[in-house]
Amino acid sequence: MTTGSTKRIGILTAGGDSPGLNAAIRGFGKAALHYGMELIGYRDGIRGLVENRHVPLDGKALSGILTIGGTILGTSRDKVHRMSVDGEVRDMRPQVIENYEKERLDGLVLLGGGGTAKNAMRLAEAGLNVIHLPKTIDNDIAHTDTSFGFATAMEIATDAIDRLHSTAHSHHRIILTEIMGHRAGWLTLGAGIAGGADIILLPEIPYSVDSVAETINARVAGGSNFSVVAVAEGARDLGDAADIEAAEALVKAAKTPEAIGAAKKHLANVVDSQREHTFKLARELEARTGLETRVTILGYVQRGGTPVAADRLLGSRIGTAAAHHVAKGEFSIMVAARGEETAPIPLSEVAGNLKLVPPEHEWIQTARKLGTGLGES
Ligand code: F6P
Repeated sequence: MTTGSTKRIGILTAGGDSPGLNAAIRGFGKAALHYGMELIGYRDGIRGLVENRHVPLDGKALSGILTIGGTILGTSRDKVHRMSVDGEVRDMRPQVIENYEKERLDGLVLLGGGGTAKNAMRLAEAGLNVIHLPKTIDNDIAHTDTSFGFATAMEIATDAIDRLHSTAHSHHRIILTEIMGHRAGWLTLGAGIAGGADIILLPEIPYSVDSVAETINARVAGGSNFSVVAVAEGARDLGDAADIEAAEALVKAAKTPEAIGAAKKHLANVVDSQREHTFKLARELEARTGLETRVTILGYVQRGGTPVAADRLLGSRIGTAAAHHVAKGEFSIMVAARGEETAPIPLSEVAGNLKLVPPEHEWIQTARKLGTGLGES
């Protein structure tokens, strides 16, 4: 820990990259410098923290990054308590504590999603001063209205749906577009409504292929011989969803390390066997409707490029608010967006708590009232 009033703070970005990360780094950094803090940026997320790879973040380093996509610090997906190092899985918390002390840090700011919230919690439990800032295009972090990256990804996915409409219409085709979001349907639902998708399929509502086909056939009967279907990457038909549920139940029920390992392997195999689910749905819809069907996987394009204004603003708000909490010595929190304000939320309430789309959420009701098919049986 530093002496006197100068606080020395480390910052890192972890998990999948997301538009708005640099705005948040800049927001935190500029405010931190204003409070008289000294800032270092760890390279490549938790891995850089473990390997103690960092760069000084001064005013010059923080300048000119607001509009840049990705993260200037680099990122990685690692669990600090189970990291793959030199071919072994190891608990790297002792190494992080050693580095934290060696660098005389007073605090650590982690920008990331659900996995990062868990890492932040683990480091806080190990006695470090930690703050988490909510980043993810998936919008699935509990207790925050939204996370930076989501607005940009929704804009990109909406633009894609707009573009797919004109080609689907011209060719009288069904076009399925697969949208990211991991196990949450926020991105698909938001972009689906904003882009006027005819059908929206979400992880939270396992779909019936018959119901999807019926919606498309009803559209054809009404004179619309094309359809655009927004499919969340985590959406599954009823059968596949039941298979995953059964495999997850086996993991929960397993008691010994061997049984847990075997059950997790089985779950991974089930998930892997369903990787091409959107293509499977396309074949089934073609057979049931007689319409030519195509698939567009949006993929990583949704995470790349310049953040929209909403994400720059959110990153700046949350970043600067976080610096304020650090200045006051408030740690073990996530800085959430709550309406017009930001709010500190205990990490213990955030870590491991996924925010899925509630079945009767207002966006779901909006889609239903618009006549959008949700594949409900
Ligand atoms: O969490 C963001 C996200 O883009 C998810 O929507 C997606 O499931 C996942 O990351 C992809 O992860 P990776 O970058 O490791 O392929």
